[in-house]
Parts: sequence; structure tokens; C-alpha cells
Amino acid sequence: ALPVIIDCDPGIDDAIALLTAFVSPELDILGITTVCGNQPLAVTQRNALQITALGGRDDITVYAGCWRPLLRPSIHGQFHGNNGLGGLALPAPRREVSAVHAVDFIIASCRRALEQSRPLTLCCLGPLTNLAVALRIDPTIAEGIERVVLMGGAFRDNGNRTFSAEFNMLADPHAAHCVFSQQFAITVLPLDATHQVILTPEHVGQFTRCAGRLAQPLGQLMAFWDRNDVARYGSRGGPLHDPLVIAWLLDKALFTSQQARVFVEYDSPQLLGHTQADWYGKSGLPANASVVTEVNASGVFDLMLTRIARYGEQ
Ligand code: BDR
Ligand code: CA
Repeated sequence: ALPVIIDCDPGIDDAIALLTAFVSPELDILGITTVCGNQPLAVTQRNALQITALGGRDDITVYAGCWRPLLRPSIHGQFHGNNGLGGLALPAPRREVSAVHAVDFIIASCRRALEQSRPLTLCCLGPLTNLAVALRIDPTIAEGIERVVLMGGAFRDNGNRTFSAEFNMLADPHAAHCVFSQQFAITVLPLDATHQVILTPEHVGQFTRCAGRLAQPLGQLMAFWDRNDVARYGSRGGPLHDPLVIAWLLDKALFTSQQARVFVEYDSPQLLGHTQADWYGKSGLPANASVVTEVNASGVFDLMLTRIARYGEQ
């Protein structure tokens, strides 16, 4: 199985991504690291523990990461409810967060991966603060990373938090700039891709019918995600941002990408967090990312339904 670390800020769509990953034997989840993002760190780390318990994966350790972005004041998500999980009440976590800091865990895991010649894949579902700090402490960890697969940015699409910026990039643009300046392979799932995969009320019905003991909590999470904005999304429902990172790892044939040099703006008041791809090589710089441009949405839903149905079988 592919060794992965999931770095996240749950977050409703982070939670759906985690639950999908938990029942995907193709992935060897070495740990979950949490970051300040959709909610303050104390909330994202508790949510990660509770989702881990809900998914029956208490074997996976949760590591708490950075409590704020590198330079910017924290911003939090707007569509995830007060507790970051649409008000969903979950039982108390069965485990504590690790005493090891997420950044130390990422560094140690990358070094071990290098020693064992088993490079890691980092799945980044939130602001990129943890990975940026890890790289600032020890840049050689990049050699232990096979690929970073991240949800973030908006290219031909507008932003979602401002007209020009997607939330994860805006929340910590300096960290994002640091990550895009490294040598490892990066796959980007931007809004251009995630807005092709709208979780409609019909999909919610399909998921809840197959999810067995998770039907009620999953249904509540997914129903809360409905933006009710037909003008923007073409139907009722909400974009499945973070689960696409997991789906990409599971079946790359469902995605089309284009190589490009990606820049993250970190210095302009109007364009902070804006991502710009140099599609035609005008910058003279080599490509640093593979940007997903097209998604087979029905293929993604089929893949996710198959996974979530495993909760119904347990
Ligand atoms: C991203 O921002 C967060 O609100 C979501 O969890 C996702 O990671 C989408 O812009
Ligand atoms: Ca997220």
C-alpha cells in the first residue's frame, strides 16, 4: 500500500476525505496531522480524533500541528458550522492527540522514508503551514517525499474566499509559496477541478443508503454541505473539494492534468493567495506542479460510493 500522511483541518469535506481514505486498503495511513484552518487548531485536532473514532480507525495516530499561519492572522472556514462538522455531535474521542508535534512527525517520517527507500505521499487538505515549517527546519526531507497532492488554488475559476483566492492558499500564502518552491512532485486539485464534482441531495441519498452505521452522521455532514447556490454550482449541493485528493490517489485515470509553473501571490493586498499557472512557459521556469483541469465526476462518485459502502458491510 502507498505510504501517506494526511495533513488536514476538518472541516466537513476533510472529514469525508478521511472517511474515504480509512476504507481504502491501497493507502497505508502513517498518521494524520492537523493544522489551523477551517477552525482553530484545538477544534481541528479534536475533530480529527472524533472522525478517526467514527471511522473505526483508532489505530491511526493524530498529531497536532501549527496553531496559526506563518505570518498572516488566522482565518477560518465559513461553511462548516460552529464545530467545523456542521454541528454534528460525535462521541468523545477514544484517544489523545500524540505528544509529538505534527511538524516533527512529518520530518521524522520523511527521514525514515528516505532511509528505507520508501518515499512518502503527503495529502494536504488545508493550509500548508505544517509542511512549510517542516521544510524550513530540514529542507532535506524533500528527498523523502514522492509527491505532495494538495487541494488548493483557483486558476481559470475565481477564488472562493475572495474573488482571486481559494481558502487554503489565502489562509497561508507564505507557506504555499514555500511548498511550491521545492523540488518534489506536486499534484494540485484546484477549484477548477473540485467545482466539477458537486455533491447533490441525490448523491447524499445514495451515500446514506449504503453507509450502514455511518448513514446518520455522514448524511448530516453531507446535508450541511449544501450551499443552495444554483447560480454558482449549476445545482443544489456543494463541491467535494478535499475528497478529490484521495480519489486522485486511488484512480488517476479519472483526472486530466496539465504541467505548469505555479506561483502563489503573497505580497499583494488585492491578490493575496491568488494562484497563477504559467501554462505556456512564459516565465522560463520549469513546471513545478501538475494541475488537475478535468474530472470524471460520475467516476469519482462511483469510486467513493464503493468505498463508503464498506462501512455498511462492517
Ligand atoms: C478548501 O477550503 C476548506 O474550507 C475546505 O476544507 C477545502 O480544503 C476549499 O477551498
Ligand atoms: Ca480542508
